Amino acid sequence: MNEATPPVIELTGISKRFSTEEVDTYALRGVDLRIDKGEFVAVSGPSGCGKSTLMAVLGLLTGFDQGSYRLAGRDVGTLDGDARATVRNRHIGFVFQSFNLIGDLSVLENVALPLKFRGGVGKAERQRRAEEALQRVGLAQRLKHHPHQLSGGQQQRVAIARALVGEPDLILADEPTGNLDSQNAETVMGLFDELHRGGATICMVTHDAGLAARAQRIVRMLDGRIQQTVQQAA
Ligand SMILES: Nc1ncnc2c1ncn2[C@@H]1O[C@H](COP(=O)(O)OP(=O)(O)O)[C@@H](O)[C@H]1O
Ligand SMILES: [Mg+2]
Repeated sequence: MNEATPPVIELTGISKRFSTEEVDTYALRGVDLRIDKGEFVAVSGPSGCGKSTLMAVLGLLTGFDQGSYRLAGRDVGTLDGDARATVRNRHIGFVFQSFNLIGDLSVLENVALPLKFRGGVGKAERQRRAEEALQRVGLAQRLKHHPHQLSGGQQQRVAIARALVGEPDLILADEPTGNLDSQNAETVMGLFDELHRGGATICMVTHDAGLAARAQRIVRMLDGRIQQTVQQAA
């Protein structure tokens, strides 16, 4: 790794609290996490330990109370809403457990959407890049379908194509196989393996030990803290 290349992610002392009238919940308590370019990291731990909150912080979907966050070398903790949205759109691809596709849009339109939000990319180019992303996930034959016409596994592959289309620095996946049967889960994991081999940086939440074992590094969380980090054999 070139020494001049900053880590994709550098979290230092991140804490986040949710306050309601009845109770304060410390979802993250002093989390330090560094992810280098090209790494595939799995985040695991019991329900409620802070995995999704960590992903929301990493994805600039939510702020934090303490600590600092550098994304590709840039301090992103202090950005305002518009700047955060721009950074999110340009640098991060998301894959959620529940796919989060837009039902009224075709597969091709769903995948092209991040480029439309980005602006400055013409329609023909957006379509070309969306088709290319769909090719990578093996769905080039389904461009005009709508999400409800696809299986869950296919919908998740569309979501992965949408995450890839903008060539993000980082792919964040929160329980991407949580709603899939084992065969479709395997297809999705195979795609992540392939993306990783192609140089993608991936941070994936899973509570499935077998899936976590396929990452290079496993970060185990408990009660809002990183309890243990396990570097796996190459
Ligand atoms: N929006 C919220 N408001 C209040 N509490 C929340 C909110 N989101 C998460 N929490 C709490 O923060 C803790 C961590 O939640 P979460 O990050 O979703 O855990 P995980 O994804 O590991 O199951 C839990 O105790 C949860 O109840
Ligand atoms: Mg969660």
